[in-house]
Amino acid sequence: MCGIIGYVGERKCINILLDGLKALEYRGYDSSGIAYNENNEIKIIKSTGKVQELENKIDKNLPSYIGIGHTRWATHGIPNEINAHPHHQGKTTLVHNGIIENYVELKKELSSYYNFKSETDTEVAAALIDYLAKNNSKLEALKKAMTKIIGSYALAIIFDDEPETIYAIRKDSPMIIAQKNNDSFVASDIAAILKYTNEYYILNEGEIAKLTKEKLTIFNNNLQEITKDLKIYQGNINDIMKNGFDHFMLKEIYDETSVYQNIINTYFPNYDIKELINNFPNLSKYEKIKIIGCGSAYHAGMVAKSTLEDFANIETTVEMASEYRYKKIFPNSKELVILISQSGETADTLEALRIAKKNNIDTLAIVNVNSSSIARESDMVIYCLAGCEIAVATTKAYLAQVLILSLITLTISYNKKIITNEEANKYLFNIKNLISDTKKILDNKEEYQKLASKIYKNNCMFFIGREIDYAICMEASLKMKEISYIHSEAYPAGELKHGTISLIEENTPVIGIITQEEIAQKTISNLKETKARGSKIIIITTQNIYDKYLNDHFYEEIIIIKDINILLQSLVTVTPLQLLSYYVAKLRGEDIDKPRNLAKSVTVE
Ligand code: F6R
Repeated sequence: MCGIIGYVGERKCINILLDGLKALEYRGYDSSGIAYNENNEIKIIKSTGKVQELENKIDKNLPSYIGIGHTRWATHGIPNEINAHPHHQGKTTLVHNGIIENYVELKKELSSYYNFKSETDTEVAAALIDYLAKNNSKLEALKKAMTKIIGSYALAIIFDDEPETIYAIRKDSPMIIAQKNNDSFVASDIAAILKYTNEYYILNEGEIAKLTKEKLTIFNNNLQEITKDLKIYQGNINDIMKNGFDHFMLKEIYDETSVYQNIINTYFPNYDIKELINNFPNLSKYEKIKIIGCGSAYHAGMVAKSTLEDFANIETTVEMASEYRYKKIFPNSKELVILISQSGETADTLEALRIAKKNNIDTLAIVNVNSSSIARESDMVIYCLAGCEIAVATTKAYLAQVLILSLITLTISYNKKIITNEEANKYLFNIKNLISDTKKILDNKEEYQKLASKIYKNNCMFFIGREIDYAICMEASLKMKEISYIHSEAYPAGELKHGTISLIEENTPVIGIITQEEIAQKTISNLKETKARGSKIIIITTQNIYDKYLNDHFYEEIIIIKDINILLQSLVTVTPLQLLSYYVAKLRGEDIDKPRNLAKSVTVE
């Protein structure tokens, strides 16, 4: 979604702002803009399209040492220059992430004092703060604005009459601040400033940050100065570089083996279940689990539902966060709510967490981004350790979520004495093999390129499977459609004939995922039903199932993966499907890392 960078210091700011905006491009956006102080006058330049187009309009050597920049993902008003940020009203210029829900009422109240040029909620925030700053100090004005604005916001603000200072406030939309060697920064995420520093502070709700060249000051809600814990970003600049890959998505798929290794090194370096038990929260007291997430995080939950129920014998339900937040809640002290989120900032998931907590339900977050809102607000947290993920379509972070959920399943199963110490350690050791198995898949990219060349011209396809394979289909299908724009659907194999099979035409690709032997023949029969209607069948299966049931070659292509075990099988099945989507999108010439209309971190409802 939208991104913010602000800088004040001794260096010329334009390049720093543009670099920051480029580092934020991965979040998804459709226009961009910057405001900067040149000879004590605040100037604004905006552009639709890529940051490069903004860059083409600006002299990068301008003698300006303070500015704010923004990439906008349109919510209120189409993506054009008028609606792009920064917005200016009176003496106030600002950039905004989030949605101001009461902007229509505020606009009405302020319309006798201000002319509004854009359709945005943001311009109203600029007018409100400007209005309040007429008779109040800047800090008082911002404090009052926070009580008036309903919704979510991260705001970086410059005032015409204080042009050497940036102010920042936030609610339900993340913001970090940093200072190093007379350089002060404000940003919506660390990627924007990582080139300059990996040390930062988190701005909390109700706080106000004031940034000048020399000083970074943070005030609490009573406008008293406060000190904060310094955070250090543990990843490195390589996380936000392509390192020779054509796209971040491909680089991140190739990162998957090192993500598995990080998880091993951190949680069970000696493949000993006792280490894992020590490093994970004890969940023995829960009788039910509810997993909540959005998109791929929800799909990770769907995979885990099967393993938690079958392997750890614990009843598990999975909900989309956007649905959970409006459902009737049945508080149960024996239930654990697990929130899954790569970014830790997804608005729906964050709200679901707050609702669970309000109902006194214990919460555990599985989150990738350190110290993100969901990580901070949950009762317990387990980090995914996938490193910074730049491509909008998640790959390595999704698999890290699935692996963490498998490890949770293992600990519950062990604590319930369903498996012995020896068996548990064997499962852990198998994760070492998972690394070499995934490496083999990655070394075999030609297979997926070839497969992609057979289906990339189709405009409709299906992924079918049963149970855990259906959960994998959901993720495979989402990956395919979001980056290639091919209409793709995931279907439980047995359900297809209740209506959807009417969409199968000559040459419609149907990709069957078959990794569970007990139900393999059922899915095979369903694939044959589509074959009878002209489909082009591609199968992803294990060696064992292939040997037993798939010798009659009724399919067009087959990918055979290693048999591992119920806890890890989905991981080794998904990597080939991620590669397949990537190569299909590449052959179609799409903007793989930044698919249209999408955003990396969905911080609005
Ligand atoms: C799909 C994708 C999205 C996210 C979803 C949740 O490739 O990336 O579906 O999984 O927006 O995001 P997080 O995990 O940040 O809460």
